[in-house]
Amino acid sequence: MHPIVAKAQLSPNVTRLVVVAPRIAEIRQPGQFVIVRRGPGAERIPLTIADVDKSAGTITLVIQAIGKSTHDLTSLAVGEAITDIAGPLGKPTDLLESGHAVCVGGGVGTAVVYPIAQALAGRGVKVTSVIGGRSKEWVICEDELRACGDVVVCTDDGSYGRPGFVTEALKDLCEVGGIDEVFAVGPVPMMRACSELTRPYAIKTTVSLNSIMIDGTGMCGGCRVSIAGKTEYACVDGPEFDGHTVDFRQLADRLNTYREFEQAALEHWQASHAEAH
Ligand code: NAD
Ligand code: FES
Repeated sequence: MHPIVAKAQLSPNVTRLVVVAPRIAEIRQPGQFVIVRRGPGAERIPLTIADVDKSAGTITLVIQAIGKSTHDLTSLAVGEAITDIAGPLGKPTDLLESGHAVCVGGGVGTAVVYPIAQALAGRGVKVTSVIGGRSKEWVICEDELRACGDVVVCTDDGSYGRPGFVTEALKDLCEVGGIDEVFAVGPVPMMRACSELTRPYAIKTTVSLNSIMIDGTGMCGGCRVSIAGKTEYACVDGPEFDGHTVDFRQLADRLNTYREFEQAALEHWQASHAEAH
């Protein structure tokens, strides 16, 4: 059992849970994730480890409530517990030794790029973060990223920071030059747009793929992605890949396949939840 020791609402549908998991906290490296099951029979949810506190034996999970299972998870209160947390899983981030990295976070993806920025800054790499949200209330992890270097905040509606998508700010940074690597994490169209943007500048671009995961061990094939025309498994070969080699169209198609089932499950959950209250 993994008790929840702290909980915070980061944006209208994004919740941060700090959870007791001492063995994972001890060995986790940036870029790795866990698979969480709220209770027996519950769906398995892959979540990046956004932060750890080794001395407290805790890990931080940032969860976007979009379906039934994520709503169930974010409805847990401090003092309640998550039954199963498996991990750390996936390959750690291949971190630069020096130079300038630009970390781009779109929406909830900002919580995934944060541990990468934190690790890079920790080894002396210059970090510039570009983070975006639909409006001010959807921007997350700004203070944490400011501790790692400069931050450019973008909002789609211009309610905070620079108006427009993160890609517009990234383009300006590419024009200035001197970037050794871009890390981009967020919605698939954003990661695709960042990768297409950096291609003509020949800037190495790493993306973190949120494909569907079930076992997290390379056995089920659920998370398969096409990388440079070859099938790879995000859970064991990733989740980070060279954005210039990812077949984003196939990834988007596979994610869309399950969207109707997720919507039906969510509507069922909302109806039973309304009856219970
Ligand atoms: P969102 O749709 O609100 O977008 C967040 C920001 O991304 C926008 O403010 C904008 O700056 C940028 N963006 C969006 N579309 C873009 C485009 N076409 N071109 C350029 N920039 C664009 O994001 P959200 O609702 O917080 O994120 C939800 C999505 O993120 C889900 O699809 C989820 O699966 C995905 N996600 C990905 C990861 C990952 O590891 N890659 C992790 C968690 C969630
Ligand atoms: Fe099953 Fe990756 S989640 S192979």
